[in-house]
Amino acid sequence: MATVAAEPFLWGVATSAFQIEGSPHADWTEWDPPASAHPLMTGHYERFREDIALLRELGVNAYRFSVEWSRIQPGERVWDETALEHYRRLVEELLASGIEPVLTLHHNTHPRWFHEATPWHGKLAAERYAAFVQRVVDALPEVKTWITFNEPMIMLLGGYIDGCLPPGRRDNAAASRALAGILDAHARAYAVIHRRIPGARVGIAHNMAAFAPLRRWHPLDRLLARLGHRGFNLAILEAFRTGRTRLVLPFARPQSLVTPVQGTLDFLGVNYYQRLHVRFRLPRRGSHALEVVHRDGGGCGLTDMGWEEHPEGLSAVLREAATAGVPLLLTENGIATTDDDRKISFIRRHVAALDAARREGIDVRGYFYWSLTDTYEWLHGMHKRFGLYRIDWRTLERTPTAAAAYFAELVRERRAALTIT
Ligand code: FCB
Repeated sequence: MATVAAEPFLWGVATSAFQIEGSPHADWTEWDPPASAHPLMTGHYERFREDIALLRELGVNAYRFSVEWSRIQPGERVWDETALEHYRRLVEELLASGIEPVLTLHHNTHPRWFHEATPWHGKLAAERYAAFVQRVVDALPEVKTWITFNEPMIMLLGGYIDGCLPPGRRDNAAASRALAGILDAHARAYAVIHRRIPGARVGIAHNMAAFAPLRRWHPLDRLLARLGHRGFNLAILEAFRTGRTRLVLPFARPQSLVTPVQGTLDFLGVNYYQRLHVRFRLPRRGSHALEVVHRDGGGCGLTDMGWEEHPEGLSAVLREAATAGVPLLLTENGIATTDDDRKISFIRRHVAALDAARREGIDVRGYFYWSLTDTYEWLHGMHKRFGLYRIDWRTLERTPTAAAAYFAELVRERRAALTIT
């Protein structure tokens, strides 16, 4: 017998503003040459109505997207109302189409002035971020589901440990202060959103990976797999649970911090893509003791990103995520491939892993495929094809892949199962 769910499961797709819109004012535009070579990215800023039509074609009931901070606040004291107006129109059209907006406030990019003026490891970052959030929330009070930060650990490791992402630092002490700054910013945003929008739900999107030792017999590889899991997957969950955490970097002194985020998570978003095999190597100048190796350990193969497809890891990761004690959304899951059958089997296997987790009683309330269309991919240019719709980078024309039809059918069946018959 079919039932009616009070809150329907969210079946959606995810994007981020910079990857589909670009922005002349963002730090990433000058950071990565392909980003500056394709200033319009998919042209979504102009063509957003066309993309909403694709969402309708897919039959999804939710769309995760982000607003581009550098468009809204291009100068430290400059606010651009036309950018806010643009996002207002986008939200209006989504709501008119019966699609719930799931809005990410910060997805990797910053306005150019940010790192100089008020960097995350400095004292003013959280306040600046809260002022930006206030503007967005005032402009878009109809949005109920908010994500303050996408993948804070990736931002931190890339921006402050590896130095491969802006601001390009390699400094453990600054990393720890930056983590404190980001968490503080989240706590302030949480308060700002709840003050303005009663009934809002606020979370983060946390990248979680399955970890395995490359050489199972090697005690240091096993130790590093545990440390990787603890540092990358769990440290931030501990912060939300207890108000304290430690930034654990292999063979470096752990940096403890106290943070005001305890109890400021209404849901946890999980971005899941892969299993990481890790091994110990002697640290040299500029390298770390933990090396990540991409290999196919389970027979599902590597994707065009070189990532190992490992659907069983998803159930395990969701089990860990559930220890946060709040409902979960699978805010990203997807594959870069030009092989449509492969894309379909990836979705099928991961949705099966999600179903298995839900049968165990894990409270997952949504699945978002990454991504609606192909996008610019951070540090990889334009040719990692995650999209359900293929982008012709010359004409920006969108063409459905076979995975779009598959996903639409899946969503149709699942949504139909939850309506009165
Ligand atoms: C995630 C990012 C997203 C996209 C996918 C492939 O880690 O959040 O923006 O690049 O990877």
